[in-house]
Amino acid sequence: MKPIFSASLALLLILNSNLSLTQTAGGVKPAHSPDIEHSIDSIIAGLTLQEKIGQLVQYSGGWSTGPTGRRINDEKRTLIKEGKTGSLLNVIGSSVTHELQKIAVEESRAKIPLLFGLDVIHGFKTTFPIPLAEAATWDAEAVELSARVSAAEAASSGIHWTFAPMVDIARDPRWGRIAEGSGEDTYLGSVMAAARVRGFQGRNLSDPTAIMACAKHYAAYGGAEGGRDYNTVDISEQTLRDVYLPPFKAALDAGAGTFMASFNEINGVPSSGSHFLLTTILRDEWGFDGFVVSDWNSIGELIPHGYAGTPARAAELAINAGLDMDMESRCYRDNLESLVTQGKVRAATLDSAVRRILRMKFRLGLFADPYRACTPEREAKTLRSAANIEAARNVARKAIVLLKNEHSLLPLSKNVKTIAVIGPLANNHRDPVGTWAGPTDTNNVVTLLDGVRAAVPASRVLFAPGCAIDGTDTAGISAAVGVARQADVILLAAGESEDMSGEARSRSSLELPGRQADLVQAVHATGKPVVLVLMNGRPLALSREAANLPAILETWFLGHETGHAIADVLFGSYAPSGRLPASFPRVTGQVPIYYNHKNTGRPADDSVHFTSRYLDVPSTPLYPFGFGLTYTSFAYADLAIASPRVKATDSVSVRITLKNTGSRGGEEVVQLYVRDEVGSLTRPVRELKAYRRVRLEPGQTTSVTLSIPATDLAFTGVDMRRRVEPGMFTVYVGPNAGEGLVGRFEVFE
Ligand code: NOJ
Repeated sequence: MKPIFSASLALLLILNSNLSLTQTAGGVKPAHSPDIEHSIDSIIAGLTLQEKIGQLVQYSGGWSTGPTGRRINDEKRTLIKEGKTGSLLNVIGSSVTHELQKIAVEESRAKIPLLFGLDVIHGFKTTFPIPLAEAATWDAEAVELSARVSAAEAASSGIHWTFAPMVDIARDPRWGRIAEGSGEDTYLGSVMAAARVRGFQGRNLSDPTAIMACAKHYAAYGGAEGGRDYNTVDISEQTLRDVYLPPFKAALDAGAGTFMASFNEINGVPSSGSHFLLTTILRDEWGFDGFVVSDWNSIGELIPHGYAGTPARAAELAINAGLDMDMESRCYRDNLESLVTQGKVRAATLDSAVRRILRMKFRLGLFADPYRACTPEREAKTLRSAANIEAARNVARKAIVLLKNEHSLLPLSKNVKTIAVIGPLANNHRDPVGTWAGPTDTNNVVTLLDGVRAAVPASRVLFAPGCAIDGTDTAGISAAVGVARQADVILLAAGESEDMSGEARSRSSLELPGRQADLVQAVHATGKPVVLVLMNGRPLALSREAANLPAILETWFLGHETGHAIADVLFGSYAPSGRLPASFPRVTGQVPIYYNHKNTGRPADDSVHFTSRYLDVPSTPLYPFGFGLTYTSFAYADLAIASPRVKATDSVSVRITLKNTGSRGGEEVVQLYVRDEVGSLTRPVRELKAYRRVRLEPGQTTSVTLSIPATDLAFTGVDMRRRVEPGMFTVYVGPNAGEGLVGRFEVFE
């Protein structure tokens, strides 16, 4: 057999010649197959009511990993044999999945294969950067590669289905799950959503290296009030459709086989009971033919939401809304039979849900080979192969964002004599894997200290942790200062622990936790040059650090290859090319602060009292969306719009000249934003509509043209119809959401 990795690389070359959103739509979305539908007809005709319900029920396998690890309990084995479950989550490994699948296809009456699901979020055994970090690459090919490698690894361990990508827009960094998505922007989020789906599902779901994707959490889960997880979402339907839904649509257009209903309510209706979301939009408007799974017990949670009074009513609401598979709530298992018998759920509704689930099992090739060619040999060859580790390092270094670099402190010379590596994250194996790292082995983390030692073997590298990530103990700070004094340069690794972001991990403060700010202050006071190396799962409020320190590198949580990737950037073997996927506030009190806000009737002007601002902090973020430096500088000039008047059915084409004005080669991410100046509903001050990564050598100049179809300027009107309104638009082309050359054009009907 060909090594999985080279096969996937070849595949990437075929799939990725161009990765813009419009092009992602085609190609991988599977066509409806009459043959499969006929086969499903005959399977459904032969199923008992209990067996049909069984297909809709998913249980957790309790993280069983087979003969040498945790064992799945016998009750689950019996349920499989009796046809009472169609899917399990959290069962990992080719041998245990094989054993359970054998029960399903040989010992159950209907012999329908099981579907094994798992949260493969940013890697499987090879851990890649957290999704927010991957979004910071602004590089769809890199993100697709990460998902492809993760899929190939997970598939070799018997996994068929990942609960990813998470495509929730997050405008409030207090929300811990911002780490699992692509940040605050709808366009970037849509590009990343499509890339991840393509990567997970490969060219064809029946390819044994593919796993089925699940766009989650449908919908607007990231809109939780106050950034507190699971909290209420109350937004207009226009905001839902224009801000939160497009990444889901992009995932669907890229072929995502499943959606997951979210925990939250929107405007009074919890998603897991929302016919509007699960049927009107998803099926009727968008034509989705895959299935929807609940989130963990989200059907049962219709009761505390106050939307259903009993588990039976919760089940009735959920299935009639269009929710096909019940993850762990038992509401379907215990109530569907009587609901169907009483006529509260139509037999046809149940059959449709079964059909959608069986359709995806067919597309995955499970009826042809329920084991999807999984063997322990293939698994051993695939997991953490050298090529996969190399891919993880490449993606990791692309995710790093250089936030500050006074007097070109970075890159460091490889001849630097003594380096102090300081901080609670400097030699930390646990936290760099980030949230939802699944079956990772943290022993495989290359720490910053390891990475620096490997990169500059001739240098003297000293280490002191200084303090813990959290807590009040300052006892280690003086030792760290002592180490710092001996060094020519200090790398100070500070930030969050991996469990400060992710599910149920919202924070009310975005400052460095514990006593780390004191550590930074004490080390800075030595007068030595300090590079702050941040590791964190969300935007942080870094006013103090940014005011004092000469260099700041945002490295997020980069996964196993953390130390190598950071060292590549620190010592200049890779010039930083990441850009922020979310705004960094100055202070926590500014949030939510996102670039595509409305203007208001009194737009913020820090010199005018009666404007929309705070008294005690400037109105701008510390670092805007899209921001990121590199080791050279770029100059933008000569913005030209091909035609200053465009028809609503034509394209807008904008050209600029870009020059590398520094002394090193580097990559710029040229970003195009648009503002619809006057609308029948007010429009955001800017919206990202296109971007292009451009590499230039020192002194080199090029012209960059970005074109967008005028239909991309559409928004949802008062009547809920999307339309482009004729009128004047401002266009900005620049390096981030806070800068850029400005032009204007008119759209006419
Ligand atoms: C709950 C989380 O919200 C969801 O993202 C995840 O996929 C499920 N648990 C299953 O682990």
